[in-house]
Amino acid sequence: MIIAVDGSAASGKGTLAKRLAAHFDLAHLDTGGLYRALALYLMRQRISAETAEETVAAAAIADLDLRLIDDPAIRDDAVAHMASVIAAMPAVRAGFLRLQRDFASTPPVGTGAILDGRDIGSVVLPDAPIKFFVDADIEIRARRRTNELQAAGQSVMFRDVLADMQARDARDRGRTIAPLRAVEDAKQINTSDMDADQVFIAALAYVETTGT
Ligand code: DC
Repeated sequence: MIIAVDGSAASGKGTLAKRLAAHFDLAHLDTGGLYRALALYLMRQRISAETAEETVAAAAIADLDLRLIDDPAIRDDAVAHMASVIAAMPAVRAGFLRLQRDFASTPPVGTGAILDGRDIGSVVLPDAPIKFFVDADIEIRARRRTNELQAAGQSVMFRDVLADMQARDARDRGRTIAPLRAVEDAKQINTSDMDADQVFIAALAYVETTGT
């Protein structure tokens, strides 16, 4: 079983992907983690969003230690910002393509794979038999993210998180290469008025209809 999950930041796509992975015994790849790990790796070399050059960023993929995906530092807002900048670079996206496709064709564990990101159903795995597109109103997503950051002890304000999210959304949706968009064969779920359980139940019901 191969499942593609795309969606906006803080839409609930990551939570959904994790739950589907556990339910169907699938290997899970959070592809945003790849861009964040590369961003953190570059930032640690004193490269910033303003100074990052496409060729340098893409070349760094070869040296990237993928264990960085598990480093809590990749969740910082500064890393998210850098990630959204380098994710708009075609050479960086091309550099991660093979890795993502290999993960899906040869999952390291389980009986299949689930990848979540922005372009999984449109670019990385266009033939995936099951695709989801998860979204929610931006104010609700910003509220969720604010609560998450505050619960983690960070002192952030809702309006700053919202402004940040608007900028990141604009970059993800507006870039010329692999922009965030719902493909026609994706099951769309708007999570604005749903909790994680409801989203999971809706997704399971959809998987049943696909007969896979
Ligand atoms: O989902 P996230 O917030 O961890 O993603 C971090 C950044 O990486 C975000 O700006 C979108 C980008 N991204 C992407 O362009 N393509 C993906 N498949 C996954 C993430």
